[in-house]
Amino acid sequence: MLAGVGSGSNMGTRGRRAALTLLVCAALLPCVCTALKQIEPLLYDEQLLWGSGWAEVNTYRIPLLTFTPTGSLLAFAEARKESSRDIGTKFIAVRRSTDKGATWSPISFIENDGVRVDGMNLGAVVVDEETRSVILVYSMCFHKYQCSPSSTMMMESKDDGVSWTAPKNLSIQLGVRSFAPGPGFGIQKRYMPHKGRLVVCGHGKVDMDGVFCILSDDHGKNWRNGAELKSIPYKQEKKQLDFVPDECQPFEMRDGSIVINVRNQNNYHCRCRIVVRSLDGGETLPIEQVSFDHALVDPVVAAGALQKEGVLYFTNPASTEHRVNLTLRWSLTNGTTWEENAVQIWAGASGYSCMTSLDSGSAEDKKYIYIIYEKGHKDYDETISFAKVHLYGGL
Ligand SMILES: *[C@@H]1O[C@H](CO)[C@@H](O)[C@H](O)[C@H]1NC(C)=O
Ligand SMILES: *[C@@H]1O[C@H](CO)[C@@H](O)[C@H](O)[C@H]1NC(C)=O
Ligand SMILES: *[C@@H]1O[C@H](CO)[C@@H](O)[C@H](O)[C@H]1NC(C)=O
Repeated sequence: MLAGVGSGSNMGTRGRRAALTLLVCAALLPCVCTALKQIEPLLYDEQLLWGSGWAEVNTYRIPLLTFTPTGSLLAFAEARKESSRDIGTKFIAVRRSTDKGATWSPISFIENDGVRVDGMNLGAVVVDEETRSVILVYSMCFHKYQCSPSSTMMMESKDDGVSWTAPKNLSIQLGVRSFAPGPGFGIQKRYMPHKGRLVVCGHGKVDMDGVFCILSDDHGKNWRNGAELKSIPYKQEKKQLDFVPDECQPFEMRDGSIVINVRNQNNYHCRCRIVVRSLDGGETLPIEQVSFDHALVDPVVAAGALQKEGVLYFTNPASTEHRVNLTLRWSLTNGTTWEENAVQIWAGASGYSCMTSLDSGSAEDKKYIYIIYEKGHKDYDETISFAKVHLYGGL
């Protein structure tokens, strides 16, 4: 109120502080002001990228989403040709947006596993900002169903996701095993230790189950095996409530540690997410760094996780029982606590999700995160939807 300004002595401490903050903000640090604004996510735009039967494909599943070095968005999915099952023959489907998700290229298929009974499974996409390339890592014959051995494969795009190299067999370097990367994104370390390193994490099968990360210190030319978080009992048949870390999403904190948010396959300890942290750039995942996030209830699914400007974001079907209620949560305390006013993205059937954001540093790019998720009315695998979320209520 203007009256308050006239009688300076009436102005409370709060008012003076607010005025001071405004002054400092206006004069000095517009970027800090963005950070101070309250987060109030608003579903800003949403469109379907894939649906059952599109382009004569039975089912699209396992959506991945990434930014590219030039600020485009790339969306990937498994195009399951004949059935919705995890095994079976597939294409890798891609769509690309050069206008921050407003419009998307037609569906293109960048790889085809022919008539394989147990074909390709996605996968993790990782962007190397130094070489400006986009790398896709996926598995082949993961379930060893009428095939052997399993292989870890890589494709690379040097032109913003328009064209892709032929698949390269990383198992020649990594050794032969069932390794299912992601599903989600891999990271390039932006902070020490091991700045510039590519880190892709995923999970194994009964012969070697748990969470594993593979590392590249030369922009994806050579890969080696890094951190492991093994299941208990390791390499043995599991029972309900055993410790079985499964599909996972790593992200880097601003102190250079890597946090991995993990699917808790057999509901060990809780019907919630396992969280594990690597302090050495993905070399190790010590047992002391394993915790359970009881706030992140989960029906056993692949979830989305992202760190942007010091705030953590998490998406999953927020239910202990069913794949429904795709919900966005955020944490201002590095995942110690989550804000209570979670935002429901879709009340109905919903499954896997993945998030990304553009980090150009522009005020505009700071306002948005992007979510891709499995969405349906009856079943969660009916469509794959892209959602643009405004973090500050549309303002
Ligand atoms: C990949 O390489 C491994 C190890 O040499 C081999 O056993 C496997 O058959 C290869 N996979 C494919 C799909 O070529
Ligand atoms: C969160 O972690 C970062 C380092 O990654 C640290 O600088 C910051 O103080 C932490 N914030 C809180 C609220 O604990
Ligand atoms: C959906 O998730 C929110 C956030 O956790 C929760 O409050 C709500 O009860 C959930 N709804 C259903 C139907 O599970």
